[in-house]
Order: sequence, then C-alpha cells, then structure tokens
Amino acid sequence: MEEQFQLRESVDFLDQMETRWQAPSNIALVKYWGKHGMQLPANPSLSFTLKECHTVTSLKAIKGDHGFSISYDGRKKPEFAPKIKDYFLRIKNYCPWITQYQFKIDTVNTFPHSSGIASSASSMAALSACIMDFESMLTGTTVSADKTSFLARLGSGSACRSIKGSAVLWGKHIKTVDSTDLYGVDKTELLHPVFQNFQDTILLVDKGEKVVSSSVGHDLMNGHAFAKARFEQAHENLEMLKNALQEGDLDTFIRITESEALTLHAMMMTSHPYFILMKPKTLSIIEQVWAFRKETGIPLCFTLDAGANVHLLYPREHKEIVEELINNKLAQYCQNSQYICDYIGTGASKC
Ligand code: PMV
Repeated sequence: MEEQFQLRESVDFLDQMETRWQAPSNIALVKYWGKHGMQLPANPSLSFTLKECHTVTSLKAIKGDHGFSISYDGRKKPEFAPKIKDYFLRIKNYCPWITQYQFKIDTVNTFPHSSGIASSASSMAALSACIMDFESMLTGTTVSADKTSFLARLGSGSACRSIKGSAVLWGKHIKTVDSTDLYGVDKTELLHPVFQNFQDTILLVDKGEKVVSSSVGHDLMNGHAFAKARFEQAHENLEMLKNALQEGDLDTFIRITESEALTLHAMMMTSHPYFILMKPKTLSIIEQVWAFRKETGIPLCFTLDAGANVHLLYPREHKEIVEELINNKLAQYCQNSQYICDYIGTGASKC
C-alpha cells in the first residue's frame, strides 16, 4: 500500500541542506512495457544494474517558497523542468516537507548525453536518493531504499530498479512473494557466480532522438491486440529467468533475454500506430551475435532497450574475445564506431 510511504516522523526544519548522489542506469532482461494508474507496471520486470553509465546529481535545498532550478553540468536546462515539476507534484504527498524548500538541481551523466541511452532511470534514481537523504537529515531516521525506489518510480518507472542491488525485480509477480508494483526489490541473492561479473557492452547504433517516446509506447499497450498474452508471458519468462539466474543456466538466460528483447520490439511493430525503433544495423549486429555464438559456443547474447542500440551481455571471462569481435566486426555498425563498456553494478551511492 502506498500509505506505508507517507511521512509519519516529525520534521525539524533546517535552513539549508546539500547532498550529492550517483545512481546507475539499468538494463531490463524481462521488459516493462505497458503501464496504468500512477506509474504502475502492466507486468513484472527484472533488470541488471549497471555501473559505469550513471548520473551524478547535486542537490541544494534552501528554506523558502517551493520551487526549483535545474542545470546539466552547470548549464541551465529549462527543458528538463516539466518532468521535474511533475515529479515534485507526485512525491509531495509522501514528502510534504519539500513544499518548504527551494531546490537547486545540478546533474551530469557519465554517458554521452545524446547516446540514445535513456537517462531518465539514472537521473530520477539519483534525484530520489538526494531527496531521501534530506528526509533522513530532517527526521533523524535512516534512509529506506524501498521509499527511495518508490519515489524514483513516480519520476520514471524503470528508475525504481536503479536504487539497490545488482538484479532488481519490479512489479507484482505471482510466484515471487515479496514482489510489488510499488518499488523495486533487490534480487542480488538470486545471482549464480557466473552472473555476478556479467558485462554489458552497449553498441551505439543510433544516437538520435527516439521517434516515439517510452511513455507513448507504454500507452500504446492499452488496447493492444496482444497485450494480454504478452503480460502473461512476462510472468512465465520471469519465473524461468529467476531459475536460470539461480542455477547459472546460460542457455535459458540467453533464450529468455533475447526473446524478451525481440518481443518488446514486436509489441512496437504491432501497436496502432505501429513504429520501428531498430535500424538495419541493429539487425546486422544481431545476426553477427548469432553467428559468433554458433561458431564459438561462447555465451554471448544481446538485449535491446526502446531504441536501436544493442546491449551485448556475456560473462567476464570472455571479455577479450568479445572485444575482438566488436573491433573486427561490430564497431562498423556503430555511429563513429562508438560503444560503452559497462558491467553489473550495485546501485545508488552518496558521492
Ligand atoms: O521507465 P520508462 O518509462 O522509460 O520505460 C522503460 C521501458 C524499457 O526500457 C523499454 C523496458 C524496461 O523495462 O526498462
């Protein structure tokens, strides 16, 4: 129940507060696509937390009339304001003290701003971590990762999976007792050693603006001809993936992960209006990954976000040979031959 996140402690107002947090991006293996109500997912999802791709947010709060200013790497960014305004409106009920403060937000991403990597997950997670840090200063209580994740979700759904843990499950899953639609649940304990050092090399195929935003895409699942079957499938895939993660079963991991990526894009191609976010180069990379796996038996697989970039997932022990494949065959499909080497991380931290 949402009420559990309403503030019960009394607040001792401070004139000024300052903090800085970093939060990572995450890559979903079982995809969240479709939502209802206030940022509630239509199906459960499970992601790996990333490490290198993250947002660092500095937040200052000065006692006074509520308002905020936002800058990116020191430069004013009024175009970010509507999203932040909505966020503050949504969290007000759970953090009423925010109405007594003027905020100054400065944020920066470690990944290129226009890389086609969504920054909403890491930025909303980092901002929520700052807000919760202030709340603990004002109430003298320790920060609750569940509430931080809950607030992050109100900013951007997938952001709730960027707070705590290397593998995070979000959304009520019939077979996972502690799962909930309200926040992400740390499932690091599921990870067999083979997954604990997993690599995610992100091939930057197209760095342009998305033709259809995620929020429009989520909405198109309402009334989608395949929605019911897709949501049921996500529950089944999640169960199979959980078992694969526990048992170190790479074959099942690959089968579910790649199928989920293609299903996500299949939903886009079969919605009304329909749209395609993959590019011809995305498909060329997928073909190369399949050929490489067949030839070498190395457990390299791919996943896709809502965009054309390809995430290559593989155990660390195969890093050298995968790098060779990238340099020899895959970098040619990337814009300016660019890719980002990332790996599994642990969540948000104060910095
Ligand atoms: O959090 P949003 O609204 O940007 O949606 C994210 C949707 C996907 O990245 C495509 C899938 C996911 O589960 O992260």
